[in-house]
Amino acid sequence: MCGIIGYIGNKNSMPIIIEGLKKLEYRGYDSTGIAILDKDKLFIAKCKSRISDLEGLLKKRNILGAVGLGHTRWATHGKPSKVNAHPHTDRFKRIIVVHNGIIENFNNLKKDLEKDGCKFASETDTEVVAHLISKFYKGNLEDAVRKALRKIKGSYALGIISRDDPDKIVAVRHDSPLAIGLGKQENFIVSDVSAILNHTKKVIYLHDDQIAVVTKDAVQISDLKGNTVPKKVDTISYDIEEVQKGGFAHFMLKEIYEQPQVLSRIISHYVTAEGAIRFESFNIESSFLKKIENLVIIACGTAYHASLIGKYIIESFVRIPVGVDFGSEFRYRNPVMREKTLVIAISQSGETADTLAAVREAKKNKVKVLSICNVLGSSLTRESDATIYTHAGPEISVASTKAYTAQIMVLYLLGLYLAELKKTLSKNHINKAIDVLKSIPSKQEEILGNSRNIKEIAKKHLHFGAFLYLGRNINFPTALEGALKLKEISYIPTEGYAAGEMKHGPIALIDEYRAVVCIANDSFIFNKMASNIQEILARQGKIIAIATSGNKQIKDYVKEVIFIPRVDEQFSPLITIIPLQLLAYYIASLKGYDVDKPRNLAKSVTVE
Ligand code: M6R
Repeated sequence: MCGIIGYIGNKNSMPIIIEGLKKLEYRGYDSTGIAILDKDKLFIAKCKSRISDLEGLLKKRNILGAVGLGHTRWATHGKPSKVNAHPHTDRFKRIIVVHNGIIENFNNLKKDLEKDGCKFASETDTEVVAHLISKFYKGNLEDAVRKALRKIKGSYALGIISRDDPDKIVAVRHDSPLAIGLGKQENFIVSDVSAILNHTKKVIYLHDDQIAVVTKDAVQISDLKGNTVPKKVDTISYDIEEVQKGGFAHFMLKEIYEQPQVLSRIISHYVTAEGAIRFESFNIESSFLKKIENLVIIACGTAYHASLIGKYIIESFVRIPVGVDFGSEFRYRNPVMREKTLVIAISQSGETADTLAAVREAKKNKVKVLSICNVLGSSLTRESDATIYTHAGPEISVASTKAYTAQIMVLYLLGLYLAELKKTLSKNHINKAIDVLKSIPSKQEEILGNSRNIKEIAKKHLHFGAFLYLGRNINFPTALEGALKLKEISYIPTEGYAAGEMKHGPIALIDEYRAVVCIANDSFIFNKMASNIQEILARQGKIIAIATSGNKQIKDYVKEVIFIPRVDEQFSPLITIIPLQLLAYYIASLKGYDVDKPRNLAKSVTVE
């Protein structure tokens, strides 16, 4: 989605902003722009292409100025174009605005402003903000912003500068992330802290409806009424190396390879030397957890697939019903929630608009919310009663990989923790399960060490125009996730299905042009998948099977088999997904696509 970076200090802001914009590129964008203030002299450049093109444009000019704003736009209102790219200004070009989010009542505001004589240059919702602030401006920028915000409905992170008040940046957020980076005689505003890691690790995460006035030496935070709000400075826990490719061709590949390390880190974080599972700062009373009668897990995209796996895990370990819902459905569905319901919200970013809205819906019903999240200080973690962090480190690739397996690992540990509290599994059973979980990273390493075979299979199948992924039982969600990975980065029409459903529809699609990925690991229902395979072969479908090493039978009828290490079926989703991530990666990269920045997609979907 859109990205914001702002700088105020003693240095020339332009190279700092361009560098920050490059760090924001991974989030997905279609156009970009920059505004530089040198006292009351304003320079704006925009382009409907890559940041490197904007940089090229700027190199030809000698632009100086110690205050600046940069933006990457992901179009919502108005097509991707130079005019619609941010920053936007009022008619006098004295108020300059960058914006992430959506101004929902922009149409009505625009009509009123037009009556006042404002002329609009773009089709965007953002431009109304600049005109509105200008209307209220009487010599103090933050006062004008406060007045404008009373009129605005929607979600926003805004960075605002003014030619008439040039020694400050005003920043404000509502339902869209924004942080202030603290340097020495320089400060930053940023929608994603990884973009300023080169400069500082000290940040203040703005809360909803807080306004920050940022000068080169100070940051003041107040609420919408103007009351000062105390500042909480956080330190970013990861290093710049973690947001670099480290020798890999793409972030996605790097992140796939990081998974064994991430899973080991989670185990050492939450399992004590004595083998007990402990979650830090777990603010939900264990007396409540002992009593819960059902769980509802809400999430979007890949996190939704992890949630489906969570349903299999927790129903089996804890023997309580687990419902799983998309954030976007849950929020409008008037769902049934009871006193003894626990809602679990899963999100890598912690900023996904639909997941957050669903959490608010749950809180309105006075239901406790536990979040599983990767990003410290994100909106989701602030709005939940308790959070279990996935400790996966920054995930840069739009296609989520390590966050997914990290979420599943946390769900295993949570399931075992609840099972211990509710006494649905014996201590011996729990210990054995933890031992299996500890063995997973080395099994993943084994697959990653043999990725050449998967690349060869990718080469042979990249020309297929459509793929079907089939899985059963706890690997049905793995099929959904494998299909999502392939479609989002290779643009090949791909579907995931429960193999048992094949005869109820998808079988109609099978012919020699259809590649079918069958997750056929050892299972008590392996024979059912074997029958699916026969049915596909009978219709000339081209099968790629994922099978457990040592399975001799499968080679008799399937040519392309990716063998995976043996693991108890209940824990296999942490293993079966690895070849599917690699398959998607190799198909897309061999096709020459920009794997880390797939078209139309954004890393975190902060608008509905
Ligand atoms: O940050 P979140 O986990 O809440 O994001 C949810 C989805 O937007 C995300 O998983 C998306 O589906 C990814 N592109 C999948 O690779």
